[in-house]
Amino acid sequence: MITKIGIIGGGNIGGVIVQEIARRRLSRSIGLVDVKPPDVARGKCLDIAEGIPIINADITIEGSKSYEVIRDAQIVINTAGVPRTVRADGSIPTREELLAINLQITDMVADNILNYCPKAIVISVANPLDAIVFRLFQRLNIPKNRLIGMAGVLDSARYRYFVAEAAGVSVESVNAMVLGGHGDTMVPVRSCCQIAGIPVEEFLPADVLDRIEERVRNAGAEVVGLMGTGSAFVSPAWSAIEMIETIVFDKKKILPCCVLLESEYGVNGYFVGVPVVLGANGVERIIEIRLTDTEKQAFDRSVETVKKTAEDVKCVR
Ligand code: APR
Repeated sequence: MITKIGIIGGGNIGGVIVQEIARRRLSRSIGLVDVKPPDVARGKCLDIAEGIPIINADITIEGSKSYEVIRDAQIVINTAGVPRTVRADGSIPTREELLAINLQITDMVADNILNYCPKAIVISVANPLDAIVFRLFQRLNIPKNRLIGMAGVLDSARYRYFVAEAAGVSVESVNAMVLGGHGDTMVPVRSCCQIAGIPVEEFLPADVLDRIEERVRNAGAEVVGLMGTGSAFVSPAWSAIEMIETIVFDKKKILPCCVLLESEYGVNGYFVGVPVVLGANGVERIIEIRLTDTEKQAFDRSVETVKKTAEDVKCVR
C-alpha cells in the first residue's frame, strides 16, 4: 500500500495530478512542492483539500514551497520545468530548446529527492523528456527500475485517439504504441496498432495512417499553437496517473515508458521509450518487440536524437 506520493512542480500538470490522485484515492497522503511565490503549492492544495469532503476522499493533501513536504514519499512525480509556449514571433520551440533552463531546475529536483525521499520510485514528466530523465539518472544514481520517464503513454494515447476517430470506433478498442524519443522523431509503431486485435491496416488505408502518424509526432506542438500559452497538461497528467495507478496496484501493465536500456534494442546507456512491465517495483521487465525494417530504421534514428541530447546534458556540469 502506498501511503505517500510526492509531486514536484504544482503548475498545470502537477495540479491535475494532485486532483486525480485524490479523486482516485491512490495514496493516504500527497505532498506537493513548488517554488513559485507567494506559495502556489500551498494554495492549490488548500483548494483541493477543501473540496475532498465533497468527493469523500479522506486523504491528507499538503503543499509547500519547501521540499520538506515530499519527505518519505514512496512515489515522486517530477513536473518541475518550463513548458513550451508560442514565441512572440509566432514560432513554437522544440522540446530540446527547453533543455538549458530545465536542466538547472532538474538539478535542484534531484538534490531534493536524494535529501527527502531517496528510496522513491521517480516518474519524470518535464521536457525535453529523455534528456531530463538522463540528467536525473546522473544525479540520483538510483537503480534503473526506479527511474521512469512519462512520454510513451501520452504519445500512444494520442495515436489511439486519432485512429479511433478516423476508424469510427471506440478508443477502448484501439491498441497502439509509440516508441523512441519524445520528440519529432518518435515512432508510432504501425505493426503494433490494432483495433479489437485486428491489424489497423484492415480499417484504414496507408495514406490515412501516414497522416495520423505525422499528427502524432506533432501533437504536442498542435496543442501549444492552439493554446497560445503553455502546453498540453490534462492528457500528460492522466498519462502519469496511468503509470502511478499501475505501480500502486502492482498491475504489471505493459506501457511504453522511457527507461534505461542496457543492450536492449541494441542501445546501451541511454533512456529511450520502449514497452515495459510496470508494477510495485517500478520497471519490472523490458519487452523487446519485433519491429519491421522501416520501424527499426525510424527507431534507430530516434535513438540517435536521444543520444545527441544526452551528450549535450553530459557537457553541462
Ligand atoms: N522546484 C519546484 N517547482 C518548480 C521549480 C523547482 N526548482 N522550478 C519551477 N517549478 C515549477 C513552476 O513554478 C511551475 O509552477 O514547475 C511548475 C511548472 O508548471 P507549468 O509552468 O504550468 O508547466 P506544466 O504545463 O505543468 O509542464 C511542466 O512538463 O510536459 C512538461 O514541457 C512541460 O517541462 C514542462 C513540464
